[in-house]
Formats: sequence, structure tokens, C-alpha cells
Amino acid sequence: MNLLILSCGTRDKVVQYFKKAFEGYGDIIATDCSPYAPALYEADRHYIVPRITEPGYMDVIFDICRKENIKGVLSLIDPELSLIAKHHKEFEELGVTVIESSYELCERTLNKWEMYLWMKEHGYPCAKSYIRLEDFQAAVNAGEVSFPVFVKPSKGSASLQIAKAEDMETVELLYHHGDDMMIQELMQGQEIGVDCYIDLISGELVSVFAKKKLVMRAGETDKAISFADEQLFEQVERFVKENGFRGQIDIDIFENNGVYYFSEVNPRFGGGYPHAYACGADHMTLIRNNLAGIANTRNIGNYAVDKVMMKYNEIMLIDTV
Ligand SMILES: Nc1ncnc2c1ncn2[C@@H]1O[C@H](COP(=O)(O)OP(=O)(O)O)[C@@H](O)[C@H]1O
Ligand SMILES: [Mg+2]
Repeated sequence: MNLLILSCGTRDKVVQYFKKAFEGYGDIIATDCSPYAPALYEADRHYIVPRITEPGYMDVIFDICRKENIKGVLSLIDPELSLIAKHHKEFEELGVTVIESSYELCERTLNKWEMYLWMKEHGYPCAKSYIRLEDFQAAVNAGEVSFPVFVKPSKGSASLQIAKAEDMETVELLYHHGDDMMIQELMQGQEIGVDCYIDLISGELVSVFAKKKLVMRAGETDKAISFADEQLFEQVERFVKENGFRGQIDIDIFENNGVYYFSEVNPRFGGGYPHAYACGADHMTLIRNNLAGIANTRNIGNYAVDKVMMKYNEIMLIDTV
């Protein structure tokens, strides 16, 4: 029962955790377009593949699936999520389960404006957002929103091109200097990260891990504290069910005066997942069970709380080729 991890990059921990969970069950195969992706060398076997945008990329991946007798596949980067979701039928014909949400959901979450419209329509508290500068200007004039505000790309990731703006001149400058920018109310309060696993067989939310973010670095949570709150778990459950997510997702939330504001979803293992694993939320074993045809039982909030999680760097040496 071999697992294929696409675009593994520097996510060494994720590969290591999978290797541990699959020991005695199957091998972990990793790919990347660069030989300098350290996570490749954590896997049992690895392949250097073309960039995802190159013609013939999918055929290379399908060939690996055949050769390695792959049972499940997942990607660790945003632009590849929709691509593999789109090809789920071809994967199925090869006996490979795509471990992620549907194409439609990948597209929705990768577009923060679409996600905002969905949340507004479904009654989730979230930051007022504007995709057109004219609408934002009108809202300021009407007193619906006030400075400071937050400006970010609607299809961005890794905290790139994000900025706080104190006045209209700055908003206009930021808006015109980025692609598909959106303007949001500035969120106050405590930033929270939630890692979820939605069972591929039952469709039920079976695991949730929550942390309060203390320090962010390069778009990832660097230091955080684990906590549990039933009210949060209930809202997260309604949110993932109503959307129809599957597999691993992470959600960014703000807590202000007891209200949870939903901000953003990544339908994959996020960069902060090692925090969850370290506290006992082992989602690799849940994936292994699903691939073996076993539905997982609900196990929500069963992890170490009040733990401070602190990331640190490591280094790997390989021979030149
Ligand atoms: N409306 C907002 N108000 C305040 N801070 C925000 C707001 N939106 C995003 N941020 C901050 O910027 C970070 C990155 O934004 P996010 O929407 O999560 O995009 P991504 O993680 O895809 O880059 C968030 O983790 C949060 O710290
Ligand atoms: Mg985010």
C-alpha cells in the first residue's frame, strides 16, 4: 500500500511522519521538480519530475503510480491541488485514491474572494471584504468600513504581498501594484490555526487540532500554544460539513470577544501541521486506515493542550551529482 507525495519540497517532517505510519504497510514515494528538495531524501524512493505547468506532467505522475503500485496520492502545494483533483478519475482507474477535496472546493479555497462570498452567504462571521476598489471607496464613504484595513492578493499564499493600510492612498497603491488584490477589514484579536481530518470513507470530521498563534515567520506559524474549545470544534464541524471538505485541511481563524471569524482554508497539510502531530494529532495513520478501506472513528480534541510549540531549522547534506 504505497503512498505518493507530490511536490514535497522542504516538508521533511510530513514525509517522516508518513514513513512512520506506513512502516510495515507500504512505502512512501516522493516527487519534486528540484533535486534540492530535501524532503525527497526522507522517502523510501523519490523521483525528480517536470514542473507541474509542463505538458506531459500528469503522464509522468501516472507512470510513477503504475511503476510503484501507488494506492494514494496527495500534493503539498496549492497550485497542484486543483490539478490532481481534476484528474481524480484517471487516478481511480489506476487504483489510486486522491487524498483531498473536490476540484470545486480546491478552486473555492484558493480564491479568498470566492471563499468570502461563500462564508457570507452561509452565515459565518468573517472580515468584510472588497474585490473592487470602487466598492471599497463607496463603503468607506458610507461609513461601513474604516481604516486601518488589510490588503492582500485574493489568490495569494505564504503571506506574500500582504499589507496593512492606514489610508486610501496606500490602499490604492497596493491595490494597483498586485494581481487580483482584495481589501479586508483589519481583523483584531487572537489568531488561531486549526488542522482537520475529514474521513475519506465516512465524510465525517474525525480529528481537529487547535492552536493559538504566538509568532508567524515567512507565512508560517513559528510558535503556538495548543488549546481545545468545544464551541470552536462545533463551528469547525459545521463549516467543513457544509463545504464538503475531504482529507486534510487547515483553517485560519481569528477569535475576538468570544466570536470565531473564519478567514482562510488550505485544503492540504499546512506548514504548521508538525505542531498538531507533535501534540498527538496523527493524521497520517488516519490516511493509512482510509487507504486500507477502514473508516476512522471520531476522535475530536484528544491531544495535549497547553503545550507551547516552537519550530527550529535543520540541515541535510547530499552528494553532488
Ligand atoms: N483581514 C485581516 N486582518 C488582519 N490580518 C490578516 C487579515 N487577513 C490576513 N491577515 C494576516 O495575514 C496572514 C496571511 O493571510 P492569509 O489570508 O492567511 O493568506 P495566506 O496564508 O494564503 O498568505 C494571516 O495569517 C494573518 O496573519
Ligand atoms: Mg493563511
